[in-house]
Amino acid sequence: MYYSEEILDQVCMANDIVDVIGQNVQLKRAGSNYVGLCPFHNEKTPSFSVSRQKQMYYCFGCHRGGNVITFVEEYHNMTFLEAVGFLAQRAGILLPEKEISAAEKRGMSERAELLDVNRLAGIYYYCSLRSPAGKTGMEYFISRGLSEETMKAFALGYAPKTPSDGLYRYMKSKGISDDLLRRSGLMNVDEKRGTMYDKFWNRVIFPILDPSNRIIGFGGRVMGDAKPKYLNSPETKIFDKSRNLYALNLARRTREDYLVLCEGYMDVISMHQAGFTNAVASLGTSLTPGHCSLLSRYTRRIVLSYDSDRAGVAAAMRAIPMLRKAGITPKILRLDPYKDPDELILSLGQDAMKERLENAQNALMFEIEVTRREYDLNDPDSKTRFFENTAGRIAELETEMERQNYIDAVCREYLVERGQLQELVTRRLVNPSAGDYGSGGMRAMGTALRQNDFSSSRSGFGRMEMDEGEIPSPDAEYDPAALYGYDSGFYEDEETGEMLQAPPTATRKRRSSTVREQGEDISRRLLLNYLCRYPGIFGLVKQYVGPEDFGGGLTAQAARVIYGQLEKKGKVEEASVLSHFPEAQDQMQIAGIFHTLDQASTGKEREKAVRETLVKVFAASPAASPADLGKAILRKKQEAELRSVRITL
Ligand code: CTP
Ligand code: MN
Repeated sequence: MYYSEEILDQVCMANDIVDVIGQNVQLKRAGSNYVGLCPFHNEKTPSFSVSRQKQMYYCFGCHRGGNVITFVEEYHNMTFLEAVGFLAQRAGILLPEKEISAAEKRGMSERAELLDVNRLAGIYYYCSLRSPAGKTGMEYFISRGLSEETMKAFALGYAPKTPSDGLYRYMKSKGISDDLLRRSGLMNVDEKRGTMYDKFWNRVIFPILDPSNRIIGFGGRVMGDAKPKYLNSPETKIFDKSRNLYALNLARRTREDYLVLCEGYMDVISMHQAGFTNAVASLGTSLTPGHCSLLSRYTRRIVLSYDSDRAGVAAAMRAIPMLRKAGITPKILRLDPYKDPDELILSLGQDAMKERLENAQNALMFEIEVTRREYDLNDPDSKTRFFENTAGRIAELETEMERQNYIDAVCREYLVERGQLQELVTRRLVNPSAGDYGSGGMRAMGTALRQNDFSSSRSGFGRMEMDEGEIPSPDAEYDPAALYGYDSGFYEDEETGEMLQAPPTATRKRRSSTVREQGEDISRRLLLNYLCRYPGIFGLVKQYVGPEDFGGGLTAQAARVIYGQLEKKGKVEEASVLSHFPEAQDQMQIAGIFHTLDQASTGKEREKAVRETLVKVFAASPAASPADLGKAILRKKQEAELRSVRITL
């Protein structure tokens, strides 16, 4: 980041957040805030709140939040710098000449250069398809039932057979250097001879656009049965396959409250042509957590339309828990007896597709059905194990109502007696560690177990046809809950519907070390929240807890900034704290700090809560157990002192 804090403050101050957001979202006054329908996820009742006083926004539904810059970044898909530029211009502020480091300059211009090369290539392929040399390509698309309008909407193109270096020559005529072409992924390079050839040759071309309609890569299909069927651009600085989805630029405008996730480019195109403009696909890779978190920015509901073959079913079984983990409810489109959505539409038409979408199968019933295929129900032992497995899945459901409904559904489907299945489920609930499933209450845990369970017993499945190096990275570290704070202890007050955060004293069901760390982080964030709201306590707090006591990571970074502001200005300007965190995802997390609410209602209770939080943060400090005995005794004394310290808010 290279604008000073002063400049950023000036830009923010000149752009009132209610005005800026109000231009894109219909806001209504509610008390001291404004509320509206969240533009970042689909919803029918408003949970998106904007505060003029704080100059911040926050959605209690999807936990997205930030200041006016964050909003512009998120809403218009801009980078931090673009958003600042946009807002400066809006307010007529002249930004100082950029002082960019040479490395930053290189990074930025490399991206811009690559985008420009892709844009040129897109034009070349597009025009080739419509030229006499593109006849074969045009005939191919027509034979697959695509209309001129569809071809245009997807900017489809063609890489001619001759000349085989047509793109190379075209690029040269535009003055593009060999070095840049090498980095673009559009050429095959013969290192020995130092020559280059077009990578895509005699293939129809599917440009891949990002949500801002910029071409970031290409897919190319042979027009017959040759292998490989599809070639894709390799990953480049601008093409991250695990974080982009095909046709998201179009599907994000849908009015439906769900997206359809397909496997292939042609499936998506067919779906759009048939009027289902909410279809997207991953880019020749299996679904990754990055995709799921991207999807969760647009919707909470996904219909999976994977191929009905073995690999497609295996891919769906992998995708389901991953989507759930990102807070998305998946359903499954039944395609049989057809292979993929494209074939179904061609064979049965759009009405049949519409009906199938409406009747998409519940993901849990799908999982049970697929699992069922691994058991022989004529063998008593095998049958018992199947129903135990099923009971394990049902026991993981959160509410009794859901469990009863699924027990009903399974009994109907698999002709088992209700009492028997009920007994298995109850046993699982009482003794969750029995069998191969996790505790009944902790759905996330169970899902993780199930995921491991599946991948270990079934490794060997998956799309083996794909280009090399396209296997997604393992997601062991990935936790969207931590990323967005889904599970950071927020819950909805049943009476008021207000979002509250569990008080730091709340005990969790199972305290693994990561759960403990989460708890510590909640206390730290709560303390920062108190400091923002009651800057008067800073003098006392800093005697016991310094920014170094906030552990590592984002919360600690926020602590440093907040302490800095309190030292300098005696108060915290929440919106300007966010300017220290140019990454949108970081901003959302930090924004969560300012929107942490505690339950204590009376002044006395709140003072007690502040004190308890202070003790917790003190005790959880990395400095809490020093090797030096003298220091350890001192800390114990301080902790005792803290427990009865007077807090006045
Ligand atoms: N894919 C790929 N590389 C391959 C094969 C497939 O990247 N060698 C990706 C493509 O994105 C493709 C998707 O996987 O769209 C699904 O593959 P497949 O089902 O084989 O193709 P379809 O999409 O059905 O394409 P078509 O209908 O043209 O055969
Ligand atoms: Mn197909």
